[in-house]
Amino acid sequence: MGMRMTRVCSFSYLLPFWSVMSLLLHFITLTLVLWLVTRMQEDDGGADPFAPPDASTARPWLRPLLRPPDDWCFQDLMIGDASVHRLERCWHHGGGARHGPLCPSAKDAARPAALILTIALNNDSFGLAQQQEEVPSLRGIDGFLEMLSQQDYPPCRTSLGLLVSDAEFYPEAVRSLERLVRGRGMARLVVINKTITTGISDQADRHDDSFQRQRRTTLARLRNVAVSIALDGEDAVLWVDSDITSMPNTTLSTLIDSGKDVVTTITKG
Ligand SMILES: *[C@@H]1O[C@H](CO)[C@@H](O)[C@H](O)[C@H]1NC(C)=O
Ligand SMILES: *[C@@H]1O[C@H](CO)[C@@H](O)[C@H](O)[C@H]1NC(C)=O
Ligand SMILES: *[C@@H]1O[C@H](CO)[C@@H](O)[C@H](O)[C@H]1NC(C)=O
Repeated sequence: MGMRMTRVCSFSYLLPFWSVMSLLLHFITLTLVLWLVTRMQEDDGGADPFAPPDASTARPWLRPLLRPPDDWCFQDLMIGDASVHRLERCWHHGGGARHGPLCPSAKDAARPAALILTIALNNDSFGLAQQQEEVPSLRGIDGFLEMLSQQDYPPCRTSLGLLVSDAEFYPEAVRSLERLVRGRGMARLVVINKTITTGISDQADRHDDSFQRQRRTTLARLRNVAVSIALDGEDAVLWVDSDITSMPNTTLSTLIDSGKDVVTTITKG
């Protein structure tokens, strides 16, 4: 009788002990998982998207758990004496985790693929901002891209190309364009760093007659470089001059829907 009492007593002491141990174990596991998640987010937060992945901080086995893999792949290469930055979905090169349709609908996917192309010297080439104030301010590349982003043509069928003739501005141009192309889910991006400054470097003199011939020649050469590097199977190219400050949001769709081989718009101002 006494012996049985002892057994019951020791059992009722053991039960809470194991419950506490199991709780403690859960707590330790949870803390460990939270710590790993926090470490992962610290690694990714604020990282320069253009920096090559750092092997010492990359933890690829955890990455898929935390956020979907980046569908975008970029490539920096030299074509002749031009440095070129390309950005497109990874599966175009057979890589990446997902092979999905670019367009949300079959209707969008059926539209012709278009490439919007621009050549510019630097951030000052994008004209003045449209505003009411007395002193007009420069618009900069982001103002120009904001205008392009208003087009009602499906982004998934629109690619962007920009040739920049000022090496110092090139990295900033890449950043701004990447932001737009990724943000809108556009088809592709090509940025070209190619310096032929003759004829377009001197903004003050650029409308003098004596400069026009040389300037036009240079611009034509730059356009040829831009289209030969950036065009990759698109059905149509829309040239937008960097100093165009406003355009109807139907420009691209109207030009494409015309079905004509070459179309030009009448520009004002
Ligand atoms: C480009 O110009 C705009 C407008 O003047 C300015 O806000 C922006 O900081 C400039 N960007 C660079 C990289 O100079
Ligand atoms: C296009 O611009 C017009 C006004 O010019 C506006 O009413 C319309 O909502 C815009 N469409 C899109 C898709 O942004
Ligand atoms: C851009 O081109 C210039 C020469 O044309 C070169 O010095 C510079 O390094 C290039 N920039 C990049 C980021 O490739």
